Amino acid sequence: MVTRRRMIGAALATGGGLLLMRATVRPADPATAATAATATAADADADAAALAAAGHDHAGPTDPGPDPGPDTGPALAPKFTTAMPVPPLLSPVSTDGGADTYAVTMLRSSARLLPGRRTDVLTYNGAFPGPVIRARSGRKVVVRQTNLLDEPVSVHLHGARVPADSDGGPMSLITTGRTRTYTYPNDQSHASLWFHDHAHHLESEHVYRGLSGFYLLTDETERALPLPAGQYDLPIALRDARFDADGNLVYRMDDPFNRTTILANGRPWPRVEVAARKYRLRLLNSANLRFFSLRLADGGPITQIGSDGGLLERPFVTDTIDLSPGERADVVIDFSRYPVGTSVTLTNTLPPGPAEHVGQVLRFDVTRTAHDPSSVPAVLRTLPAPGPVVRERTIVLQADEDGRAEPRGMIDGKTYDPARVDAQVAFGTSEIWTVTNANQQIPHNFHLHLVQFRVLARNGRPPSPAEAGLKDTVRLLPGESVRLQATFDAYRGRYPYHCHLLDHSAMGMMAQMEIT
Ligand code: C2O
Ligand code: CU
Repeated sequence: MVTRRRMIGAALATGGGLLLMRATVRPADPATAATAATATAADADADAAALAAAGHDHAGPTDPGPDPGPDTGPALAPKFTTAMPVPPLLSPVSTDGGADTYAVTMLRSSARLLPGRRTDVLTYNGAFPGPVIRARSGRKVVVRQTNLLDEPVSVHLHGARVPADSDGGPMSLITTGRTRTYTYPNDQSHASLWFHDHAHHLESEHVYRGLSGFYLLTDETERALPLPAGQYDLPIALRDARFDADGNLVYRMDDPFNRTTILANGRPWPRVEVAARKYRLRLLNSANLRFFSLRLADGGPITQIGSDGGLLERPFVTDTIDLSPGERADVVIDFSRYPVGTSVTLTNTLPPGPAEHVGQVLRFDVTRTAHDPSSVPAVLRTLPAPGPVVRERTIVLQADEDGRAEPRGMIDGKTYDPARVDAQVAFGTSEIWTVTNANQQIPHNFHLHLVQFRVLARNGRPPSPAEAGLKDTVRLLPGESVRLQATFDAYRGRYPYHCHLLDHSAMGMMAQMEIT
């Protein structure tokens, strides 16, 4: 199903603007892959570098194959008929030795995404989307990841403070048949994190086909709050997809216009039965390219309580939640304002795609009453003030948008080179990075591994309350600029930073810092 051809491109619509970019890279050399598969685990990183080098430079256009026709999702999946599943909770195989140990196998599976059909997907332990790992601050989690797919993978825990050898960077590949053990110290406060594939040039298709899952980290601060919990605390991963006439997922890197089926926890336009009380919803944008701007159809209030790095200091009430790929929003919606029997749709106001499809996300059906002891306190947590800054940098994100056949994604004018260090950072220091999207039409965003940062300013103005907490990914619409402060006091080593529109990072919009 997945071949090593790489048709890399991206097309996005922002507001009225429309843009199509495409590029190709050479497939990874099968001989190199075979060598890597028989190497020892200790050689994994070196082989990864060889694999990546093979696919790194740009080669001639590759035939993407015949066009599979328009997205059939809207025709095959009547809206608001399927119940939204909650992704399964992963159970540890051991809780001995001061750690919760999990065993995960990456394998092909088929999932019932569309009514009456089965769709081939890539999974962690057979689940689409992946299972949920629940962790507690201060308690180590060990995940043994086994790759039974026919391509190399890498598992990145997005938003986490982890040693470099467990970061799951683009070059730290697990080749077919191999197992790699990731150790997550969880020496950070609560946060709704997620894990996903990160194998260089392959991450985009792998994530699209299913390799992502929630990692919900909690701590005493969070648990002491009377927020909605248990069955009233729902993780919801949002994304888009394109299906062919048989209900198979169609992956072409340059066609977000055709990904017009919206999935919530892997189901198209599901319905979510809720009680007339408060719910906590942990929203994740797990799409490759699509930006969501979410609103309740009646414009009703949504209380945002958290962002990428956990709870905000104070909740705030809004009617719109903006999420670029990789970002999370933690919100509370009080359904007690709706009479039992009411339905309210969660809508998306952003293109691309026909509004009758991409403009709808899921529907809440208020089906019963329920006791509600939960509340949203006026103060949720206290964040330390960012410390003194020792260094400032500027980062420029830019993709070719002149219509050339092989556009590149660049950071500071360069495409990603795993052998190059782009930023030397002194361990223990705090820096301000001013990140700018230099494109006219192409939106980007910016994700730093390892750290949760603070947004100091967006376009010269103070951040909105939604961006005032801890963040690991920020959106950057064309021409926008964000000043952020990060403190590098966790681990030494090399970590990537990149645009989280995964096609863009695969096109080279990724760089690497070294903390020493
Ligand atoms: Cu969620 Cu480097 O990625
Ligand atoms: Cu980008």
